Amino acid sequence: MDIFDKCMKFTRAKEAIEQGIYPYFKPIRDNHGPRVVMDGREIIMIGSNNYLGLTQDPRVQEAAIKAIEKYGTSCSGSRFLNGTLELHEELEHELADFVHKEAALCFSTGYQTNLGAISTLVTKDDVIITDKTNHASIFDGLFMAAGIQKSMNLKRFRHNDMEDLKRVLSQVDPDAPKMIITDGVFSMEGDLVKLPQVVELAREYRARLYVDDAHGLGVMGATGRGTQEHFDIWDEVDLIMCTFSKSFASLGGFIAGKAEVIHYIKHFARPLIFSASMPPANIAAVKKSLEIIKNEPEIVRKLQRTGEKMRHEFKALGFNTGESETPIVPIVIGNDMKTFQFWRMLFEEGVYTNPVISPAVPPDRSLLRTSFMATHTDNDLDIVLDKFKKVGKQIGII
Ligand SMILES: Cc1ncc(COP(=O)(O)O)c(C=O)c1O
Repeated sequence: MDIFDKCMKFTRAKEAIEQGIYPYFKPIRDNHGPRVVMDGREIIMIGSNNYLGLTQDPRVQEAAIKAIEKYGTSCSGSRFLNGTLELHEELEHELADFVHKEAALCFSTGYQTNLGAISTLVTKDDVIITDKTNHASIFDGLFMAAGIQKSMNLKRFRHNDMEDLKRVLSQVDPDAPKMIITDGVFSMEGDLVKLPQVVELAREYRARLYVDDAHGLGVMGATGRGTQEHFDIWDEVDLIMCTFSKSFASLGGFIAGKAEVIHYIKHFARPLIFSASMPPANIAAVKKSLEIIKNEPEIVRKLQRTGEKMRHEFKALGFNTGESETPIVPIVIGNDMKTFQFWRMLFEEGVYTNPVISPAVPPDRSLLRTSFMATHTDNDLDIVLDKFKKVGKQIGII
């Protein structure tokens, strides 16, 4: 037996490539935000998380370039030792203020943020209660905690099902330290956590609450402050997490909450301490994006109106768009092959979406994930709807 045997036997992806239906790792040649060049053709991009279109904003680009000129291209070390810039700390203050928390801490990716915060906070005596469809980085944070602690007390509840959450909570030792972890906006289907009910249950069962708002900040709430603002619930969310790879036009992430909790995470989180810090250009891009969101909340409203329009129009065409309340609009198909076929035909028509199959969604719920940007024009959206109508009819989905 050879450790590489599994690699030699992995043929599924190669078969899909040979059949011309493999939709993953597709290289982009030019990226203009809502329009990209792929396979030598201009394509309308509705598969990106660049919700506010800020990666193409000249002010954000200029801030990133200036930061490189001033600080170089890398911090060349961990935050803990030589890799903290004043810029990191400025950004952390601005972010804490933005989400109404005492303190914030930046990590080099959103994935590492969940890994670091969760693996640091969760010990073997704690009970963690999570939505089954939470992002993989939350589960990986829990698995990392389990690896460090050699045990884990993890309970899952059915997606956004408050009865089930109550059932799970009621079975946990009332004296055990506990925390509920949930996404704010669920990344695959664009539905929202039922935050008021979660908060009520957290209070009743004395659990802390951790919300991953990767797809919420810059997207939800009148001024883009996310799921907390959408529900006007702030203090009851103990920890709020977000990435910079979506609305903030960069790479990295942060966790915010009480100063003592953030201070603790800062001193024990392995993904922070044993990994190099966010590079200067990335910090500067987030700082500028944050400034734009604060000064121009109308771009958030524009994004929200685009999401509303597309949900409405897709539904009117007869597509199943699930429970989305955001600019992430799933087109639920339910069959993997049909999903790949739909993806391919749309791509040939010049529209890029993300095909999502199990385990990212339940096996009978494969879907095309569409997500919109504040910078899509009405013309882009009309073309998208036309193509969906044409291809949806051709393959018998509508
Ligand atoms: C809900 C959620 N949390 C965390 C992450 C990880 O963020 P990043 O890709 O910026 O590392 C993602 C990214 O896909 C996400 O969707």
